Amino acid sequence: MSDAPRSHGRLSIRPSARPRELGERPRLRGAWVARVITLFPEAFPGTLGLSLTGRALDMGLWALETIDLRPFGEGRHRNVDDTPAGGGAGMVLRPDVVARALDAAAEGTPPDRARWPVVYLSPRGRPFRQADARRFAAAEGVTLLCGRFEGVDQRVLDAYAVEELSLGDFVLTGGEIAAQALIDATVRLIPRVLGNQASTEEESFSHGLLEHPQYTRPNVWEGRAIPEVLLSGHHARIADWRRAEAERLTRERRPDLWRAYCDAAGRAPDGDQSEGPRQHPGRQPRVEKD
Ligand SMILES: C[S@@+](CC[C@H](N)C(=O)[O-])C[C@H]1O[C@@H](n2cnc3c(N)ncnc32)[C@H](O)[C@@H]1O
Repeated sequence: MSDAPRSHGRLSIRPSARPRELGERPRLRGAWVARVITLFPEAFPGTLGLSLTGRALDMGLWALETIDLRPFGEGRHRNVDDTPAGGGAGMVLRPDVVARALDAAAEGTPPDRARWPVVYLSPRGRPFRQADARRFAAAEGVTLLCGRFEGVDQRVLDAYAVEELSLGDFVLTGGEIAAQALIDATVRLIPRVLGNQASTEEESFSHGLLEHPQYTRPNVWEGRAIPEVLLSGHHARIADWRRAEAERLTRERRPDLWRAYCDAAGRAPDGDQSEGPRQHPGRQPRVEKD
């Protein structure tokens, strides 16, 4: 393979076994690091380069390093995959190739997986949750392995005790979008990334509940009014309404979360229905327009 840089739009990628930091950015001491092993380094930073995560990246609050899997490949063509043992469609990423990339990614990182988790994004994995994002944000960094084709040879995942996490019950073409989602959810929990830290304390999943519905001006839109209590200026009543709505939504939409929430609160999962059915805020009575 030639050493000439390959051009990928704005980026120029030189085959290298070393983690590649994206762009010329400062890095604050102790900055959280995402190290991503991928066949498509040009997919990064992607949406992570925008808005709050992008600004935090530019400020050096976190760092993004990509490790191109291709240079670890076998032979003149740097082959990274082969046919599945036992037959079947598609190709599988080779264990020796992935192992070399994981070794390179481990350079300079603590072996303690609590301090530096190593994750393979996979539809077969345990569902990725907000608690995982909190765990990753509390670590020094994370190594993410993005699969392609039919996935990764099981032996290398076992040998390196790689944690498997899924974004949901659907199949993506590759792990890059899943890696970006995981990084996004994690980075926004790093102090100073979000201007208003309180927003992460109130949003969905923070207390085991989905978030209450949100509204903004105009007060009446297409005949639908904002629930009156939110315009009352009465903070305690607003907090009560929001909590009740968060509970109602969680009970209706996510019985699994609702049961866990009730268990933690020592409460019956049927919930306190004594106040009778509540008005669904998305179905507010229409206000007659003049
Ligand atoms: C086409 S998929 C492989 C699917 C695999 N053959 C299966 O049926 O489980 C290729 C890669 O996309 C990524 N991927 C696909 N779906 C995902 C999901 N729901 N969550 C996380 N990563 C996913 C994984 O890295 C996977 O190795």
